[in-house]
Amino acid sequence: MEDKEFFALVSEEISEGNFQRYIAKKRISDLPSNDTLIKVQYSALNYKDALSARGHKGITRRYPHTPGIDAAGVIIESTSEFKPGDKVLVTGYDLGMNTSGGFAEYIKVPHNWVIKLPEHISTEEAMIYGTAGFTAGIAIYELINHNVLPESGQILVTGSTGGVGSLSIALLSNLGYHVVAATSKPEQFEFLRKCGAKETVKYDEIIDQSGKPLLRGQWAGAIENIGTLVLSSVIRSIKPRGAVAIIGNVTGDTLQTSIYPFILRGINLLGIDSAERPMDYRIKIWDKLFNDWRLKNTSHFVKKINFSDLNENIDLMLAGKQIGKVVVKISEH
Ligand SMILES: NC(=O)c1ccc[n+]([C@@H]2O[C@H](COP(=O)([O-])OP(=O)(O)OC[C@H]3O[C@@H](n4cnc5c(N)ncnc54)[C@H](OP(=O)(O)O)[C@@H]3O)[C@@H](O)[C@H]2O)c1
Repeated sequence: MEDKEFFALVSEEISEGNFQRYIAKKRISDLPSNDTLIKVQYSALNYKDALSARGHKGITRRYPHTPGIDAAGVIIESTSEFKPGDKVLVTGYDLGMNTSGGFAEYIKVPHNWVIKLPEHISTEEAMIYGTAGFTAGIAIYELINHNVLPESGQILVTGSTGGVGSLSIALLSNLGYHVVAATSKPEQFEFLRKCGAKETVKYDEIIDQSGKPLLRGQWAGAIENIGTLVLSSVIRSIKPRGAVAIIGNVTGDTLQTSIYPFILRGINLLGIDSAERPMDYRIKIWDKLFNDWRLKNTSHFVKKINFSDLNENIDLMLAGKQIGKVVVKISEH
């Protein structure tokens, strides 16, 4: 393919620790020398993208950089079994971290990062799930594997107005779970009920700082996006033989607990790593999301934005003010 020019969001370190973001023209020859070139139609905005865009060297070592851990589009060229025009998605691995990411009209990735979309799924729908939905899917799959079922009792979802949170609520409620959504935004209780939550709580209703090793067993399971005080309180409030899927760290990365929830209640902590899951596992989760677990109506929690709106939406996400799942239209079909 000719060395075409295309648009990409670029984050650049203009002076030590000082980053600037802008839309720039890049060329195909600027992309890494991987074997599969994809024209990106849709991407999604995740917390990790916002951190990478802000200049987080734990996520992205080298700048200037184009973030975007999610991309769905069509194959332009590949040395693998993919054919030009195939609809595909890529999430995780190194995309958008140190490999130029989905906030651009083209990406070039190794073919073994790529998943072909089934005929009935559009690139836009694939990005309504994106990493957030895939991660929620892994958490739910693992909760089910640990026998946390709709009849087991209430499931708590934290960080619930965010991408992972809103998709977790929608998917769980679609499967018949009784979901309790925890949020820092009581003004969004109605939104959370529309997503499928049966009940809503604020964090101060679930955080316990008494130091007690066990609290009243309240939740059969939890999907936890917040970390620190919330995580430590949730672990102590899980019913016997329940489980907590640990996903996020928006308030920090420390975990304070005793061993009592584990040796007296037999609870499980399920570590959820979406970026490096092996391909056979990924295919299993995507197959669930695109078929048995497929959501019929997502419009109430999906915010569709254009490429040019990315900058302001990154700032909103960093301020914890983004509501629902943000899908980014990158290019025309
Ligand atoms: N383990 C994995 O593979 C994996 C994959 C995807 C994401 N993650 C992690 O999961 C977490 C959620 O990701 P996401 O993409 O869903 O992010 P998001 O859309 O930005 O949602 C994060 C939510 O956390 C809550 N929050 C509470 N305190 C906050 C603060 N100080 N700043 C920002 N948000 C705050 C907010 O919801 P409420 O106000 O409703 O509480 C916010 O909507 C992040 O830590 C992300 O890195 C991990």
